[in-house]
Amino acid sequence: MKEHIHHLLEQTVANLKSAGVLPTDLEARVQVDRCKEKAHGDLATNLAMLLAKPAGKNPRELAAAIIEHLPASDLIAKVEIAGPGFINFFFDTHWLAGQVEAMVTSVNANVKLPTPQSVVVDYSAPNVAKEMAVHHIRSTVLGDVAARALEFLGHKVIRANHIGDWGTQFGMLIAYLEKMANEHASDMALKDLEAFYTQAKRCYDEDDAFAERARNYVVKLQGGDEYCRTMWKKLVDLTMEQNQINYDRLNVSLTNKDIMGESMYNDMLPQIVADLKAKGLAVESEGATVVFLDEFKNKDGEAMGVIIQKSDGGFLYTTTDIACAKYRYETLGADRVMYFIDSRQHQHLMQAWTITRKAGYVPESVPLEHHAFGMMLGKDGRPYKTRTGGTVKLVDLLNEAEERAAALLESRNSDLSAAEKANVVHAIAMGAVKYADLSKNRTTDYIFDWDMMLSFEGNTAPYLQYAYTRIQSIFRKASVDAETLTGKVTLNEEAEETLAQKLIQFSDAVNGVADKGMPHLLCTYLYELSGNFMTFYEACPINKDGVDEATRQSRLLLCAATAKVLKLGLGVLGIHTLERM
Ligand code: ARG
Repeated sequence: MKEHIHHLLEQTVANLKSAGVLPTDLEARVQVDRCKEKAHGDLATNLAMLLAKPAGKNPRELAAAIIEHLPASDLIAKVEIAGPGFINFFFDTHWLAGQVEAMVTSVNANVKLPTPQSVVVDYSAPNVAKEMAVHHIRSTVLGDVAARALEFLGHKVIRANHIGDWGTQFGMLIAYLEKMANEHASDMALKDLEAFYTQAKRCYDEDDAFAERARNYVVKLQGGDEYCRTMWKKLVDLTMEQNQINYDRLNVSLTNKDIMGESMYNDMLPQIVADLKAKGLAVESEGATVVFLDEFKNKDGEAMGVIIQKSDGGFLYTTTDIACAKYRYETLGADRVMYFIDSRQHQHLMQAWTITRKAGYVPESVPLEHHAFGMMLGKDGRPYKTRTGGTVKLVDLLNEAEERAAALLESRNSDLSAAEKANVVHAIAMGAVKYADLSKNRTTDYIFDWDMMLSFEGNTAPYLQYAYTRIQSIFRKASVDAETLTGKVTLNEEAEETLAQKLIQFSDAVNGVADKGMPHLLCTYLYELSGNFMTFYEACPINKDGVDEATRQSRLLLCAATAKVLKLGLGVLGIHTLERM
């Protein structure tokens, strides 16, 4: 509602400028606040008082002019001038009630749809022959929610899993895969990728013949040798098969067809280097090919040199990201590209994109956005590690989440079957872990705390899941089907009105996630909505004697709208709702 009034006032200022009432160069920062007392209205603004002085007008007269130039809106029942020049708005509760009714019948709860775009979302991006570790969860879940939010709003989303599937380490990995196959022909599965990588490295460091073979395989792989290519593919497939288990478990919407690893851009790289040279952007420097960028300074204050090809002919991570941005615009037809990558790669991306723009590969009208995030920390404020200081495997974290969720549910008595219980445990565990990450402003580091996330109280997934389940049980008790409710919404109680006002802000919350790539905006919204619902449910009985039928229907409709928004909202977050728990 605040947003609605805000928007109306911005239009009004524009109207007043074109009507000559306000000077056109006047900066107007519109602020809307909730009224302390209901009798004074719902929302108020001090806009007239703020603009009076710079506009050389009397505040109350300016307030009258603002009201006169407000665009027509059925949302406002009444506007009043108060005190020295405040403007108070009274909402039309019929309008609000009508909005809630419309939400119940609309498949997307009446969310405002923007003009559809093609958006590439780059996320997850683990490395081949390495097992996914806890830190991968951030990019994986944040990016996934952005992708889901965009899709929900009708955009065409291209998920790009930019896996690390190229580099000189592949010679060593192929040589080791071959050794394994020779030694135990049947046991080709890389069950333990971490061990695989370490052992390959050990062979490489300790066995000269092995190292020689490995170096030879790098050259052959780059030359497109069929045997090396097949072995390489095997490594990629085996890794991604294992990663897929994590994706499925976390309900992350990535599949095999979203894999667009670094290797995809190999063929473009020589051409790009040649083109950057031809455009005078890249120069030879000490045998390497370098782009000097004035935008970045080295420690001596000189233009920073970014290497795009090494003296041995090898290309770099930056070269790949230049090609990658070009490909996403030219070939995939992106209108916008969102990258969910940890904040330590910010400079890398800025350099790659500065070169991309200078070369004219992607026009300025197509945003390349870095949605950076901080680290996941333990309770001690240090990077989240195992007790012995090792990297925590993602699979171990997910297993622990399920164990802890099972223990949490053990304490609640329920009449669920074993199968239903297992399903509830899974939904709660995965929801809790994802939500812990999603609900924090991604730009900062965050502390991973089991007790906080696996709780039915506070801003957690179990709390939201529980709110949803509770509404379902209200429907069961009332013996009604939420889909077939009839009747009208009337907003008599304050708790009803507050809930209705929150409900209609769902659209802003989802749009916020898509625009800013910030899932926590939706989390905060759903948490506040659940709080408003709980207050409503305590203040406004439904299945009690003495509640007349029209009121009961109206309240059930409010329940239905809340359940719908919770289900859709949690759906955008990739978190399951439960009918019972
Ligand atoms: N594989 C990289 C890493 O683990 C992340 C890749 C992110 N995407 C990109 N286009 N650079 O650090």
